[in-house]
Amino acid sequence: MLKDKKILLGITGGIAAYKSVYLLREFVKRGAQVKVLMTPMARDFVGPLTLASLSHNPVFTDFFDHETGQWHSHVDLGLWADAFVIAPLTANTMAKMAYAQADNLLVTTYLSARCPVFVAPAMDLDMYCHPAVQQNLQIIRQRGVHVIEPTEGELASGLSGKGRMAEPQDIADIVESFFSKQKDLAGHKALVTAGPTYEMIDPVRFIGNFSSGKMGFAIAQELARRGAKVYLISGPTSLTVNDPNIELIPVISAREMHAQADRIFPAVDIAVLAAAVADYRPAEQAQTKIKKTGDELMIRLVKNPDIAASLGQKKRPGQLLIGFALETDNETANAMEKIRKKNFDFIVLNSLRDKGAGFGIDTNKVSFIFPDGERKDFALKPKPEVARDIVDQVVLMLKKKK
Ligand code: PMT
Repeated sequence: MLKDKKILLGITGGIAAYKSVYLLREFVKRGAQVKVLMTPMARDFVGPLTLASLSHNPVFTDFFDHETGQWHSHVDLGLWADAFVIAPLTANTMAKMAYAQADNLLVTTYLSARCPVFVAPAMDLDMYCHPAVQQNLQIIRQRGVHVIEPTEGELASGLSGKGRMAEPQDIADIVESFFSKQKDLAGHKALVTAGPTYEMIDPVRFIGNFSSGKMGFAIAQELARRGAKVYLISGPTSLTVNDPNIELIPVISAREMHAQADRIFPAVDIAVLAAAVADYRPAEQAQTKIKKTGDELMIRLVKNPDIAASLGQKKRPGQLLIGFALETDNETANAMEKIRKKNFDFIVLNSLRDKGAGFGIDTNKVSFIFPDGERKDFALKPKPEVARDIVDQVVLMLKKKK
């Protein structure tokens, strides 16, 4: 239920705006108080009178009332809401959100809102696939906006494909489940490793890998959102965090990551190891840039510490240790071997054989594998949703441990 939750429903100008009427009814039916905010274009698709009647509140579009001169404060609207749900979200408003083009009340409210923001994009399939739209979607997603993916089906253009706004009931379910899971990790402490490690060869070269940190950062964000205090140890990445519950501990090499993980692990009850740690490092680091001389250059490598195995040895009853396995072949057998060697409570398997899974990209396709061989397979999803599945499993296992 959404009893007493205050929901600001933003409607932008697309044909799917008619579905917002059903979404509004769904929110009201579940007990929420709803205020509606429309872009000027949205008024051509759905009437404010209908929305005002169903929400029992005035509908806002302009910065002020043209007849009385009364100012509609975007700051007040943003502060009033427990959640801001923009459905449908057009490509136009998405671009304005990404670039802070604050030329209407809806976008100014988005820019000043402190509550969680959900968007349900809807547009023609070619528009949705366009790199410019995908880039803007990535920008708002990285800033913490919850994107409710469009579904596939018949579109207003007559074409068929991905671009239909998610169904009102599904959107309401997602918002409701967000509130029901809020703060179920209050009082818990978690360690997350993320990103690559760089193993220096000389002052300008290193051995590294393609990890962007996106998976680990998404897990840290989800743990923090649900109330945990998070220590995020990350190798070099361009990502940043802006959450008082996440302490970012930047490191460069596997040995630095190991030292920090060893220091923090005794104080946490959850550890999720998503970093892609280099297994080997150069035996010596040259103090000056290595000059080009012969046709061949040999670099001798030595083994790095296995952070996961070291934490696995120290794990206390009551602590949960979750690892990742990035595989290219023999996936399940390799993952089982890692569970055993590193004493994981479960492992998140992702395979580079699956399109859309693994390094760099915004999506992942994972399976959870447990020490007794049980397995849960998941569909290809955006990394923040994969993080939600992982944290759901963590919560389930913590409850069992009690
Ligand atoms: O960062 P992204 O671009 O979003 O990409 C995400 C990811 C692909 C990096 C992530 O989903 C992932 O799979 N991370 C683990 C990659 C990996 O190194 O897997 P592995 O199978 O080599 O290692 C197994 C486990 O042991 C991992 O939990 C790893 O963090 C840990 N490990 C490995 C080696 C080592 N020396 N110390 C470790 O702790």
